[in-house]
Amino acid sequence: MRYGQPQNSLLNTQNGKFPMLYRLILRPILFLFDAEWVHDMTIALCGWLQKSPGALRVLSWYFHPVYAPVEVMGITLPNRVMLAAGFDKAGKIANIMQALGLGSGVVGSVPLRAQPGNPKPRLKRVPRRDDLLNHMGCNSPGAFAVRDNLEEARRGGSIPVGISLTCNTDTLHGQEATNLLESLRILYLLGDFFEVNISCRNTPAHRYLQNPLVIEKVLRALVEREKELAHRHGVQHKPILLKLAPDLSDEQLLDCVEAAVRADIDGVVLGNTSKNPHSVDAVGALSGHSLFDRMLEMVRLVHTTYPTLTIIACGGIDSPERAELALAAGAALVQIFTALVYKGPGIIRRIAHRLAHYR
Ligand SMILES: Cc1cc2nc3c(=O)[nH]c(=O)nc-3n(C[C@H](O)[C@H](O)[C@H](O)COP(=O)(O)O)c2cc1C
Repeated sequence: MRYGQPQNSLLNTQNGKFPMLYRLILRPILFLFDAEWVHDMTIALCGWLQKSPGALRVLSWYFHPVYAPVEVMGITLPNRVMLAAGFDKAGKIANIMQALGLGSGVVGSVPLRAQPGNPKPRLKRVPRRDDLLNHMGCNSPGAFAVRDNLEEARRGGSIPVGISLTCNTDTLHGQEATNLLESLRILYLLGDFFEVNISCRNTPAHRYLQNPLVIEKVLRALVEREKELAHRHGVQHKPILLKLAPDLSDEQLLDCVEAAVRADIDGVVLGNTSKNPHSVDAVGALSGHSLFDRMLEMVRLVHTTYPTLTIIACGGIDSPERAELALAAGAALVQIFTALVYKGPGIIRRIAHRLAHYR
């Protein structure tokens, strides 16, 4: 894989090649169609392209990935920009992520058993605010299918890939740890790190799970199992992170982080989707531009209280300036999702380029 240096040549500007192509031509066409259908087609196209070394070379020439390596939690990433969970739910596009310029990507969230999610339509654009409203309900083919997909998609080698674990929506109270532990066992060798998603707004049980006592119990079990698995397979420790929602109060947030730190986890992802502040009646979870201010507050608060804890910022990061603010607030890495829908894949390089000088 050829990487572009943060200092650009004449051919490759900081904004990538043809920066307006997506906004002026592709986006208006894509926005004529249902949002989830466009997403599914994007995944299918990426899955197809990643099978061809020639296509990967062309994409890499076009997107000119930024190589500014950084070591976080013992893992070396080519740059600080990650794909957030929910984009590649089934683990089908891990091999193309590097050519698009990502430093890492998170697959999932993956529950143990397959589940269909909520009825369609369940993903809506809110273009006035560059937001999305989703009511997906954690649809997934389940841990075994994702393992098979990842085995295929990671065959050619790839950038570090995280796997987001979640429990099935019908998991009985008290059984969450068992569900998550089994998924960890099935997927262990295919992830470089793991995120625990118990903060999805579309999964009612998750509201109960964001409770410090439950968090500590569940995470302790995962941390112990991870140690056993690393020992059994003779591999290095794979970090575990907890993802928390922006709707927690500051006090609740700090209580949850404290419980996670007591359980000895490696870091936190701040945050997930949020309740829709623009319409209290609307179902669904909000992502995108509107989340940024609360996300930044969360990062600042947690970093001030736990200065050595690894924080990954996620929520409304859709420009290099916003990504830089997240790092200045204490994040080590940034994750993006909705920005890809509104700004296109070129946003990855623009952000990675701006963050390249952070050490
Ligand atoms: C359609 C959709 C599906 C998502 N699915 C998941 C998921 O399965 N697991 C998860 O942890 N987060 C999920 N998320 C949340 C994102 O990972 C991210 O936390 C959120 O979108 C905020 O980032 P953004 O503003 O950059 O989009 C999803 C988001 C969207 C829009």
